[in-house]
Amino acid sequence: MPRIAYVNGRYVAHADASVHIEDRGYQFADGVYEVCEVARGFIVDMPRHLGRLNRSLSELSIDWPVTQAVLPLILREVVRRNHVVNGLVYVQVTRGVASRDFVFPAPGTRPSLVVTARKADPAAAIKRAETGIKVITVPENRWDRVDIKSTGLLPNVLAKQKAKEADAQEAWFVDGDGMVTEGGSSNAWIVTGDGVLVTRPAEHGILRGITRTTLFDVAAKLGVKIEERKFSVTEAKAAREAFISSATTIAMPIVAIDGAPVANGHPGSVTLSLRQAFFDVAEKSPA
Ligand code: PDD
Repeated sequence: MPRIAYVNGRYVAHADASVHIEDRGYQFADGVYEVCEVARGFIVDMPRHLGRLNRSLSELSIDWPVTQAVLPLILREVVRRNHVVNGLVYVQVTRGVASRDFVFPAPGTRPSLVVTARKADPAAAIKRAETGIKVITVPENRWDRVDIKSTGLLPNVLAKQKAKEADAQEAWFVDGDGMVTEGGSSNAWIVTGDGVLVTRPAEHGILRGITRTTLFDVAAKLGVKIEERKFSVTEAKAAREAFISSATTIAMPIVAIDGAPVANGHPGSVTLSLRQAFFDVAEKSPA
């Protein structure tokens, strides 16, 4: 079954999908993106993801490439044309194509819009959650505006590659005070000895994850208390549980940090109950 991508108004074979060499996304990472989970034929939390896309675009003064009403229809169509029942849908908007110059191109330059979708194996995710993942820590070296979901992800690429080379699945950035900010592509959480969820406030230094926001709703439903505060690597290593959250991992247990086991080295029960309840609480838009 050939994959289909949406590129600037056209549905094209994925193998032939391309953008111009002077696209500002290619040359300057002058663009933003979103990743939505597709689960059991539904796009998960699409309105929240598109709301954050709107915020990212507006923070960077990039125009909407299509109307806000049309984008959900394109997402659905790409998911449908690729027969994705479980997987993800990816949306990227850049400032468009213009002769290379750092300053913004002339008003009226059309932003580029690319939408792709791909399948994932839900059994593999279940297996991974049963085993748990390992994280390493790396010094925070990103710019100050990580609240914008920009395609400028080089520090994240390097951090996650370092994790892979250490046989870990995620890297946690750690700020100058020894406090965890977030993962290379996820938010960071711990569970304290008395069962309270702790995650860094989203005002500064992290992306306000959509999964993170929905997990607040899940925790409220389960009666689990959340404290939004910074936590250190030392506290995380001594925590009862630790986990990451993102659209593609939901709540994923961490069993080791920098090679040291978290608690007994097995996925924690609070994390697994959040994971279990997630899809009952998340908003599901039919694809
Ligand atoms: N990443 N922090 C960072 C740096 C991220 O890249 C992501 C998501 C998150 C979690 O956000 P959300 O819950 O909205 O997925 C936090 C996506 C999945 C990616 O880049 O592939």
